[in-house]
Amino acid sequence: MARRLAALIVLVASFLAGPAACQGASICFSGWLRPLNPLLCPRGSRMNRLPRQRGASPSGFGLSYGYYNNRRSSSYCPRAEAIVRDAVRKAVAANPGVGAGLIRLFFHDCFVRGCDASVLLTATNSGNADVEREGPPNKNSLRGFEVIDAAKSALESACPRTVSCADIVAFAARDASFFLSRGRINVRAPGGRLDGRESFANETDQLPGPFSNVTELQASFAAKGLSSDDMVTLSGAHTVGRARCLFFSSRFAEMDPALAAKLRAQCNGDDNTFANQDDVTPDVLDRQYYRNVVDRKVLFGSDAVLGNATETVAQVRENANRVGAWERKFELAMEKMGRIEVKTRAGRDAEIRKVCSVVNS
Ligand code: HEM
Repeated sequence: MARRLAALIVLVASFLAGPAACQGASICFSGWLRPLNPLLCPRGSRMNRLPRQRGASPSGFGLSYGYYNNRRSSSYCPRAEAIVRDAVRKAVAANPGVGAGLIRLFFHDCFVRGCDASVLLTATNSGNADVEREGPPNKNSLRGFEVIDAAKSALESACPRTVSCADIVAFAARDASFFLSRGRINVRAPGGRLDGRESFANETDQLPGPFSNVTELQASFAAKGLSSDDMVTLSGAHTVGRARCLFFSSRFAEMDPALAAKLRAQCNGDDNTFANQDDVTPDVLDRQYYRNVVDRKVLFGSDAVLGNATETVAQVRENANRVGAWERKFELAMEKMGRIEVKTRAGRDAEIRKVCSVVNS
């Protein structure tokens, strides 16, 4: 009887959880589950094991500014950054949402196996097909791949096998931030990353989820050597782009009533409908996110907690009120994120891919 009841609870919970929220006994995407579903995440599963080990601040050893401009180096490709910028400019002009996608792609790349373009792979060295792109945080959600591919193909014509996909992802996020902020955000982006040769869906459980609490958010960033301030600063990226109703429809009651009513109508009971993350300036990368946190106009629980937790509320208020403060912090935090666990020495696990979705044969 008890076993039947447990099975029923798991069935109901997994139905509510949506696709593949939990994989196996030891990997659990708890921050990606609706509040009811912690039932599915046994204590001791990877995401629930807190506090995580704090990583050292990312050194980015081996990266340098203007990496492709050195005439004496075999990596010389003076148009490299301009080629990426052109591809991003075109894509963002056609659809600003793709710019948001590129910023997120960079975050999801760097948090899993470091900034090594593992997030782009569909074919890996080991033959594993269950790649990061298939992981619950990424599947049917990440976008911007075609912009990376367009830049890569132009770069292969200009300088074959010279510019890594990992650097393209970093430059593209830098450029998307520039265009979406109307030129107000200039991230410095050193180059020299190599591309990884492996990618595993289950490792995307390192990405914090929309239901994560502040301790979980801080722990996931600390594990990558990023501070709580970095976490609050980078969350400001939720002032652009979109999100599925699945991740916020359980918290309409906690939102500003007018916004909740608008979103409820927009979602209309369909979990997979998308809504803008920032209802005020949806396509501009600006500090409006922090005003939204204060005004209860953010979508995720993980956004709202920043305005409630004692460790983060002061920074939220400062970012909301002080002109220009957040933009400078965002530039530095993005650069820091781009230094996470980079591979800079060619070898069995690092190369410059010819095609960004496939390891070299
Ligand atoms: C702090 C923890 C974070 C959580 C829990 C989180 C969670 C999410 C979720 C659930 C979505 C919507 C996905 C969907 O519905 O398909 C999203 C979208 C997005 N996130 Fe985050 N995120 C976090 C941090 C970040 C960071 C650090 C960045 C970049 C610096 C970022 C940039 C974005 C962007 C730009 C979008 C919109 C993407 C698009 O429109 O394609 N997020 N995030």
